[in-house]
Amino acid sequence: MGAKTAITLRPYGDGDFELLRATLGVPEMTQFLGGPESPEKLSQRHQRYVALQEKGENRMFVILAGAEQQAVGTIGYWEHEYEGEPAWETGWAVLPAWQGHGLASQATREVIARLRTEGSRRYLFAYPTVENLASNGVCRKAGFKLLGPEPGEYPKGNKITFNVWRYDLAASSD
Ligand SMILES: CC(C)(COP(=O)(O)OP(=O)(O)OC[C@H]1O[C@@H](n2cnc3c(N)ncnc32)[C@H](O)[C@@H]1OP(=O)(O)O)[C@@H](O)C(=O)NCCC(=O)NCCS
Repeated sequence: MGAKTAITLRPYGDGDFELLRATLGVPEMTQFLGGPESPEKLSQRHQRYVALQEKGENRMFVILAGAEQQAVGTIGYWEHEYEGEPAWETGWAVLPAWQGHGLASQATREVIARLRTEGSRRYLFAYPTVENLASNGVCRKAGFKLLGPEPGEYPKGNKITFNVWRYDLAASSD
């Protein structure tokens, strides 16, 4: 394993707008997410993420990798409900130049470790569209269980079929 594969997470901050734009603001990164977000939406999202930090809620992170620990993507988690039960949901993005090196799966394992320690909710969910092979691969590699496909809309008005993946944070890790 080279230096390129070692990741760390740091909280998303005010200086990370360009990274956000390079993930959710471009066609090649949003092929399975309904296309690039508008500059207004991106700016609102940035403010939301920064506000999380200001409230002391470390829930959105920048993935750092490589010898110089540069910003290569984002990962976060947020409160969610599944069949009436409180749960967590997660989502991730790794810039094209850094994809295919296991970085998103490593970052996901790190989020899992943090949520295991946090301990308030049992399950972590992820909802990649069925066509998003890379993201489904991340779920599989990080140890999520596939519950199956479901029809949905994302963003609003855009019909999709997504896979429901669930990770049991209370199960013993091996
Ligand atoms: C999804 C994404 C974060 C994956 O990042 P990554 O760091 O390249 O992922 P990993 O290297 O950890 O890949 C994990 C597994 O997925 C699979 N995989 C990765 N890229 C793949 C691809 N293009 N096609 C098929 N399978 C792929 C592999 O099986 C891999 O396991 P392996 O290392 O044992 O071969 C990245 O492609 C991305 O940012 N996409 C755009 C944003 C997005 O769709 N986010 C997800 C929203 S649900």
